Amino acid sequence: MSATVNVNGSITSDRDAVISVFDHGFLYGEGIYETMRTYHRRPFLYDRHLRRLRRSARMIDLPLPFTDDELAAQVRDTQAVARIDGEAYIRVLVTRGIGDLSYDLKATPKPSIVIIVKPQIDPPPDAYDRGVRVVIVDVVRNHPDSVNPMIKSNNLMNSALAMQEALRSGAFEGVMRNYRGELTECTTSNLFVVKRGIALTPPLEAGLLPGITREFLFDVGQDVGVEVREAVLRDDDLFGADEAFLTSTTREAVPIVEVGDRRIGDGTPGPVTWTLLKAFRRRAEAS
Ligand code: PDD
Repeated sequence: MSATVNVNGSITSDRDAVISVFDHGFLYGEGIYETMRTYHRRPFLYDRHLRRLRRSARMIDLPLPFTDDELAAQVRDTQAVARIDGEAYIRVLVTRGIGDLSYDLKATPKPSIVIIVKPQIDPPPDAYDRGVRVVIVDVVRNHPDSVNPMIKSNNLMNSALAMQEALRSGAFEGVMRNYRGELTECTTSNLFVVKRGIALTPPLEAGLLPGITREFLFDVGQDVGVEVREAVLRDDDLFGADEAFLTSTTREAVPIVEVGDRRIGDGTPGPVTWTLLKAFRRRAEAS
């Protein structure tokens, strides 16, 4: 691993980046984050990511001690030190900060802010050309009245356990159901199925992260005349889909061609997925 890290304004290599074991991000997983990537060296959809970061912060009662512009300057400074030859992966984390062993907010008056910059690693070309296999996992997505999946939380145990289950069966991703048995999202990406030319994705109400790529795909769909909308989805909607794909900042849109041991559509990436992916890339490259 080679990364450049900014811890509360101090920029170092990954080996020298340190944070206290009394940081409540470490002790309790109390913190929030955003993952961005650059196109042409600039963070893509920065404003939307910051809006989501602020919503996550509000949902855990965490004051963010910076403006969007101030954080952007810190990101730029970290990128400048990183000197990455190509596009960058940028992770911004804000935790409650350092404090005594207590859940009381008074214990942590000063949030910790960490920015990690490293090279963006794209999925292998095969993932786009031939599509990937996913599985529906037994781990259930957090109930929205528990740790709400709307919060992009550093507390990622739910996702980690689900992904580890998927990896054990050799899958690229794991699809999680909610407590009602409806499909929600994958462990690090959102889920779409295509039926009769319409791209459908589970509603936020199902309990999932409002992905920035997911949201952007609604605009992209309009550009190319593909209807994109929310719909409650169950296992059979995925098994019986014409096409399926997953979306995330670091992976754009990756076609899903198998779920467990079942083929989706004809088992190859479908035309609607390709149309949306190409249009997405056009918008990203033009940004
Ligand atoms: N993951 N759902 C979950 C649970 C995620 O963790 C992510 C993002 C997404 C897609 O959101 P977006 O389009 O905003 O990247 C959906 C990022 C990449 C991560 O965890 O690093």
